[in-house]
This record gives sequence, structure tokens and C-alpha cells, in this order.
Amino acid sequence: MYSDKVMDHFRNPRNVGYIEDADGIGKVGNPVCGDIMELTIKVEDDVITDARFRTFGCGAAIATSSIVTEMVKGKRVDEALTISNKAVVDALGGLPRVKVHCSVLAEQALKSAIEDYHERRKGQPVEQTAAPAGDREPTA
Ligand code: FES
Repeated sequence: MYSDKVMDHFRNPRNVGYIEDADGIGKVGNPVCGDIMELTIKVEDDVITDARFRTFGCGAAIATSSIVTEMVKGKRVDEALTISNKAVVDALGGLPRVKVHCSVLAEQALKSAIEDYHERRKGQPVEQTAAPAGDREPTA
């Protein structure tokens, strides 16, 4: 019923935990099954350097959260935002149809963490970098 990859991520989940000084936190739940997923990300220079998850849910929810943390590490935030639940399912070698909603939860947790990251950055001063000498306006 489950692929070897799903079983592997379920039995040996990667990146379980919570980043205390996270740059983005996403917490989502599915009201039908009651499963809850929380994803924290660390971002440096717009690149996701770390991702951790805590999931209270089914085996597929654990496997999808686990693989999503692996998929986002090293990606730019805008790239990570394009990861769909289908990409998560494909990376796991497929999921039974009744478990596809678990991958949707993983996509939502990721999007929510990135939204939170953008939210936190609002209002922060933008770093000024000096223009190269050649681009400067000539001074009188
Ligand atoms: Fe709901 Fe898996 S059964 S997330």
C-alpha cells in the first residue's frame, strides 16, 4: 500500500523538531482527520538553511512532513513556494489516493511558514549596498 520511501520517512523521519529562533513558522491542521502539522524554517539571504517539523497525525502526514523538510533545504524561498503537494507525492514514490490530503497538509504548512517569513520581514530595514563606482552619479 505504501512505497518503500514512505515507509522509510515514516519509520525514520528526518528533521523532527522545532527551530527556536525560526524565521518562519507554519502551523496547519485538517479539520476532517484532526491531524496537525507544524513547520519551522530558518532563512539566510533568502535561502532556506534549515527546516524542522512536528506532526501529530497519520504515518503519511509524518512522511510528507519529513520529505518536505528535505526538499526545501538549500532552496530559495521563492523556489520553495512552488513545491506542490504533487511534487511531495512524487518525491515519496506515490501515496494511496485516500492519503493525498496528507500531502496537501505538507504543502500548506510550507506555504504558511513562508508567509510568516514574509510577514516578519515587513517593516525591517532593507540593507543598503553601495553602488559600484561606475554606476554612481558623477559629482560636481
Ligand atoms: Fe489526515 Fe493523514 S489522515 S493528514
